[in-house]
This record gives sequence, structure tokens and C-alpha cells, in this order.
Amino acid sequence: MALARICPVSLLPDVPAWALEWGVVSPPAPDAEPSERAPAHRRSVSEGAGSALVHRAVRRAVQARTTESPYRVLDVGGGSGVWAVPLAELGCSVTVVDPSPDALASLARRAREASVSERVTAVQGDADCLGELVADDAADLVLAHGILEVVDDPLRAMVALVAALVPGGLLSVLVAGRAATVLHRALAGRIAEALQVLTDPDGRVGVSDPLLRRFDLNELTTLLTSTGLEVELVQGDTVVGDLIPSSALEGSSATAAALAELEAAASTVAPLREIASRLHAMARLPAKH
Ligand SMILES: C[S@@+](CC[C@H](N)C(=O)[O-])C[C@H]1O[C@@H](n2cnc3c(N)ncnc32)[C@H](O)[C@@H]1O
Repeated sequence: MALARICPVSLLPDVPAWALEWGVVSPPAPDAEPSERAPAHRRSVSEGAGSALVHRAVRRAVQARTTESPYRVLDVGGGSGVWAVPLAELGCSVTVVDPSPDALASLARRAREASVSERVTAVQGDADCLGELVADDAADLVLAHGILEVVDDPLRAMVALVAALVPGGLLSVLVAGRAATVLHRALAGRIAEALQVLTDPDGRVGVSDPLLRRFDLNELTTLLTSTGLEVELVQGDTVVGDLIPSSALEGSSATAAALAELEAAASTVAPLREIASRLHAMARLPAKH
């Protein structure tokens, strides 16, 4: 796996603090019983594994390619490669930009284990200086999963992400949902925090919040269209899965299958998609005429 040149790295929240927030699962109280801690099916989401529906949408975009040349993916904030490695296994040429050396080391290991190292390039760097790291018009697909919540200026980051896209290319964006966090905090009895997330302009729980912002659907689509993109898909990732007690799911494959079906049906239906833990959008840069 190639490691490209290094850009100054910003002092941003590290993955572990993020990981809990990613699934919008409330952190357990310090004295919580083990049973109150995030159950396994939630941990898989909060660790950034990504849901089946998001994977399916991204996979479809790759499979819809019309040229024989390798599909070029740029995964900004790609971390340890949970998206990059499966895409490399599909034959894509993937560049991951991430400031965390630890995440990039995990990416290298994961790529090696999947025998796709030659199709994965790691670039240690920050979305804020993306233009110095990757060429314009170089990617057929750009992933921005879990980063718009932490960059200093999401509009500036969006402009840089769009610049990396070839005309006609696709951007896949995954962000933490504000409404889900309100619900989760309220259901955990953290009413003041829920109110704060709802009323804070950026959807934050005070200055110690590891995320700089959370999004509602309107904010997300406005950000996408303001940079000239055409939104093709908006869906909720994990609408009810994080709200269900783990005891209701344990040991029943029929219930798990029904939950998957419910998630798929709810993911594009208003108002349910608005309360999803994460909001996912795919948007296209119009082809030049
Ligand atoms: C929540 S993780 C998401 C990882 C992966 N994209 C996913 O969906 O599972 C956020 C990632 O963004 C990286 N990151 C944080 N700030 C960044 C920035 N300014 N530019 C690029 N990546 C950043 C972190 O190192 C981390 O790997």
C-alpha cells in the first residue's frame, strides 16, 4: 500500500471519542452496569461499520460504472478502511485521506489481509487541505463519511470534495443526525442535553462535545446543492435499530430479518428517515456540456 505525502495534521477528536457518537448512542454513565452499556448490535454501528443500506447504495454506484478503467474512489476521513477495503475488493482504486496515523495503520493491515494493498493508497492529511493532496477531477466517487461533523468549515470542505470529483461523478455523504441524538438523550433521561442538542445552532451538547455539529436533512441537502451538486438519494441510516432494547433482538433471526426489512422501508420515508442515527445522501456533479 502506498503512503503519499504528508500534510499538516489538525488536532481533532480521535476515533475512540467519535466512535460512541457515531451511532448517536448516549455514553454510559461512569457507574453504569455492564447491561446498560451499548449492546453489540449498536457497537457495530458506532464503530463506523456502516449500515447495509449505505453499503448497498455505494456498491450500486460502483457497479453502474460504464467504463472498463478502474473506478477511482477518494475516501476522505476514511479511517481504518471499513469503506475503502470492500470497495478495493470490488476492483476500485481507492485513496484514503485521514489525519490519524493509527487509523491508517489499521487500513494498511486490513488491506493486506484482504489482498488489496495494491489498490489502496493512504494519504495522511486533513480534509482542510485536500486540494494540496489530491488532484482535481480525479475521483469518480468521493466518500465523506463522518467528517463533515468535525471539519472547521463544512462549506469549505464541501467545495474541496466537489473539486476532487470528475464531472458526472458522485459524492456519498454520511453525517450524524441531530434528531436521533435528541431522542437518544431524552430516552436516556438526559433531558437537558436533549434540549441543548435541539436548540443549539450546531446541535452540540456544549463545548466538550466531540462533534462540532450535527445535521438535519434540510441542512444536509442545502449544503450539497449549494456546491452545485444534484441530490439523487437521501436516506436514513439506522432509523429504529439504536432505539430497540438489545433484549428484544437477542437470539431471534426472524426478528433481525424483520428489523432489516423495517429499516429498509423506513429509510426513505418521511418523517422516519429524519430521526435516523445517521443521514446518508448521494449527490452527483453535473457532467460538463
Ligand atoms: C467517525 S470516523 C469515520 C471513519 C469512516 N469514514 C467511517 O465511516 O467509518 C472519522 C474519521 O475522520 C477522521 N478525521 C477527523 N478529522 C478529519 C479531517 N479534518 N479531515 C479528514 N479526516 C478527518 C478521523 O481520523 C476518523 O478516521
